[in-house]
Amino acid sequence: MKLFNVYPINDITITRARGSRVWDDIGTEYLDMYGGHAVISIGHQHPHWVKRITDQLDKIAFYSNSIRIPIQEELATKLGEVSNKPHFELFLCNSGAEANENALKLASFHTGRKKVIAFKKSFHGRTSLAVAATDNPSIVAPVNATDNVLFLPWNDAEAITKIFAEQGHEIAAVIIEGIQGVGGIHVASNELLQLLRTCCDKYGSVLIADSVQCGYGRSGKFFSHDHAGIEADIYSMAKGMGNGFPIGGIMISPKIPSRHFMLGTTFGGNHLACAAGLAVLEVMQQESLMHHAATMGNYLMNELKAIPEIHNVRGMGLMIGFDVPEKLNNLKKNLLSSYKIFTGEAKPNVIRLLPSLALTEEDAAIFIQSLKQAIAHHP
Ligand SMILES: Cc1ncc(COP(=O)(O)O)c(C=O)c1O
Repeated sequence: MKLFNVYPINDITITRARGSRVWDDIGTEYLDMYGGHAVISIGHQHPHWVKRITDQLDKIAFYSNSIRIPIQEELATKLGEVSNKPHFELFLCNSGAEANENALKLASFHTGRKKVIAFKKSFHGRTSLAVAATDNPSIVAPVNATDNVLFLPWNDAEAITKIFAEQGHEIAAVIIEGIQGVGGIHVASNELLQLLRTCCDKYGSVLIADSVQCGYGRSGKFFSHDHAGIEADIYSMAKGMGNGFPIGGIMISPKIPSRHFMLGTTFGGNHLACAAGLAVLEVMQQESLMHHAATMGNYLMNELKAIPEIHNVRGMGLMIGFDVPEKLNNLKKNLLSSYKIFTGEAKPNVIRLLPSLALTEEDAAIFIQSLKQAIAHHP
């Protein structure tokens, strides 16, 4: 059987990884400034993560959510501590789309309403409601299309005030990435997030902070929405949560009460995923990775801003984007083929950096050096 061909891939086979480095099947070493799409939070194959998962595997990998699973409670407690939201509650699932699907569904159950506000260039996943709230018609199947999602322009306070004044009592939820990832690294302004908080409070709508890519310490704070000093009602998480082990979840405000069978999952919160999730949070604390991400992000952004050929350097912590002029439109490919560096992209001509939060100063400096060379010697 062949694989269903949905990914345009690089012809590279990675067989080994450590920290911010990966190696292919013929031993070529690469610097990973892409973090496997923002997934690698504490570094590839971190020894503590490997040990936690291996130890758990020796005991039990899975049993259904019909029994008590203490490691889920351990993860919830640790997550409450690290995110500084011990009063929230945790529902575990397996991916980012599933986290947003559950967040939106929960908001609708809670409010009894149907309408959702999302934003231009947003990406929330590929399942039914998550994709309906994603601003990319090419990935929305006819069955997923709905009039219930209203897309507003990015960082436009007037548009928000207007829609709430007109339809506020019908709005179940607003879903917003604190920093848009797939859309090309666009930071939500503090004022916009504060306005959303005010409007949601006034009209009884649920504020969902999609933190799948920008959360889990990547921005230098646990949630990028924290920079605005607001608290959302639901935070969706995945990617960095397991450092490559599939796990997602939503953190839910105590304002939203649970009831049995409202949400559910077979695999979500399995023992092995929780062990991976705990290892990530333990390493984040032990190695002060949030603080490190902020420091490394400032270093990278200052260095990038000093390179005249690239423009509009933006982001927070280790979630960085910059524009590349048309004449350098092969820069990403060139960084990979000639300098052995993985980066991310967004169209048109945007490079995204999403490395491990444990990126070393040496590796950051190597990246800047290589980028300068790639620009100076572009073919
Ligand atoms: C902001 C955001 N939300 C949701 C998702 C979907 O996550 P997953 O691919 O794990 O379903 C992504 C994936 O890139 C994302 O960037």
